[in-house]
Amino acid sequence: MTEQTNTSIESSLFIKMDDESFLRLSSYVTREYGIKLPKSKLSMLESRLNKKVKSLGMTSYKQFLEYLFSEEGKQAELFHVIDLITTNKTDFFREPDHFKFLSGNFLPDWVQHEQGRQLRIWSAGCSTGEEPYTLLMVMEEFRRRYPQLNYSIHASDVSMRVIQSAFQGIFTMDKIGVVPPEMKRNYFLRSKLQPDLVRVKPEYRKKISYKRINLVDESFGLNCFDYDIIFCRNVLIYFDKATQERIIRKFASHLSRGGLLFIGHSESMMGMDVPFRQLKPTIYQLQ
Ligand SMILES: C[S@@+](CC[C@H](N)C(=O)[O-])C[C@H]1O[C@@H](n2cnc3c(N)ncnc32)[C@H](O)[C@@H]1O
Repeated sequence: MTEQTNTSIESSLFIKMDDESFLRLSSYVTREYGIKLPKSKLSMLESRLNKKVKSLGMTSYKQFLEYLFSEEGKQAELFHVIDLITTNKTDFFREPDHFKFLSGNFLPDWVQHEQGRQLRIWSAGCSTGEEPYTLLMVMEEFRRRYPQLNYSIHASDVSMRVIQSAFQGIFTMDKIGVVPPEMKRNYFLRSKLQPDLVRVKPEYRKKISYKRINLVDESFGLNCFDYDIIFCRNVLIYFDKATQERIIRKFASHLSRGGLLFIGHSESMMGMDVPFRQLKPTIYQLQ
């Protein structure tokens, strides 16, 4: 078969999303999950959803959405569709200033003043785990010098697929490239069967607890109202300003007095009526 024939077969199998379906799907995703989907995201949506539509034996997005929004479709497919729509890009030690601030400023002060009280950390929008595992390494490294540091890490995301992946704690050697060599030795085990893979050591994996949380939901469904640190980085950027502000106010109600909120470097709270004061450009303290 020639290359040209191959291409024409593939394109004949590509299902275009009609305007009405795009509008129906994008307004649902924005309302329920906060994620903005302007028309410029149409081809991204098509390319991410095409395989799914075809795997269900369907030939149009109209047919797919009828099924997706039925009781049966919601139960069977909605989570998978959300998995496909969310953007999960993340890295170990992403935006390293935040981790430098923790070990250089926040933690020395904490161990001096809080005398063994448990430091509670929440990584909201944790994706595949690089963020909570980076937090864990920072805490553990600090604990080598100050064994009295007692901490817990909770991690959440709206996508079950990334939560499961984070829980597994398996990464490629390439992914952990930025992790300092000594930390690689301390926290990861090399796979014997697949030398390109590493896994976080079990004693550290079990230190992080996971929960599926949609940040747009009225309540986060958490019992804990006194986190000391919340990391919510590169998540708010997908939401409109009003949704961001609502979520930030809910974060405030889950933070202890003087607790910290870290947001992504391309995010901002400027112009929002929220009870935080800025310590650094993307580090905020509850007032
Ligand atoms: C780009 S990743 C950021 C990961 C990590 N915080 C970082 O900065 O590297 C954004 C994450 O936000 C999650 N997310 C998107 N909408 C969400 C929502 N409504 N509730 C909770 N998490 C959401 C996505 O599933 C994705 O894993």
